[in-house]
Amino acid sequence: MDDLKRRAAEQAAMRVASGMVVGLGTGSTAAFAVDAIGARLARGEIRDIVGIPTSNRTRHLALQRAIPLTTLNERPHIDLTIDGADEVDPHGNLIKGGGGALLWEKIVATATRIYLIVVDRSKLVPVLGRRVALPVEVMPFGWRTHVETVRALGAEPVLRMGAQDEPFVSDGGHFILDCRFAEGIPDPHLVDHELRARPGVVETGLFLGMAPEVIVGGHDSL
Ligand code: A5P
Repeated sequence: MDDLKRRAAEQAAMRVASGMVVGLGTGSTAAFAVDAIGARLARGEIRDIVGIPTSNRTRHLALQRAIPLTTLNERPHIDLTIDGADEVDPHGNLIKGGGGALLWEKIVATATRIYLIVVDRSKLVPVLGRRVALPVEVMPFGWRTHVETVRALGAEPVLRMGAQDEPFVSDGGHFILDCRFAEGIPDPHLVDHELRARPGVVETGLFLGMAPEVIVGGHDSL
């Protein structure tokens, strides 16, 4: 599976052209893409690109691979972004945030012209939310106030924990509630809307209507 993911990520990295502003995703698949972009730069196949990482983890990796970096405030328009996903439905809607980087990933995705999502076949689902829990990024202040709303939407929330016995904290300084829907998410737009309407909910891992080009490991684009 890793080999298929790596090859699909390399295929995505071939879409990077000289001079581009490139969004760099987070996760194991996106890391393969960062490797491949770094290798193409090193071979002189592309030049004058700048990367915008979607997490501190990806920033470190990109620096190790000698990819020049910038910020969204310097370059608010991204030509192409390569990222992974936790689930992809037949409409190209996604669940992201398994790695906890959903907020920065969504800001980058929204600023990008060409959005490439690289996944293996196991991530392709008929209905979002059956395979993985939906990550919801919340302010630490009063995070428990969201529990009832999440339950009313048909899910059971669990506060994500970090390596130590403390809540996981995102790069933006927030907590994450992993919301498990027993039967999947029947109406992702409604769930996204209801959650984001709450003060203290920063973002959801539902990436809806972003029309990504999906590259499936070992297969042609969807
Ligand atoms: C990071 O927050 C996520 O959105 C990742 O893009 C997603 O979890 C996919 O990760 P893998 O490529 O490691 O499966």
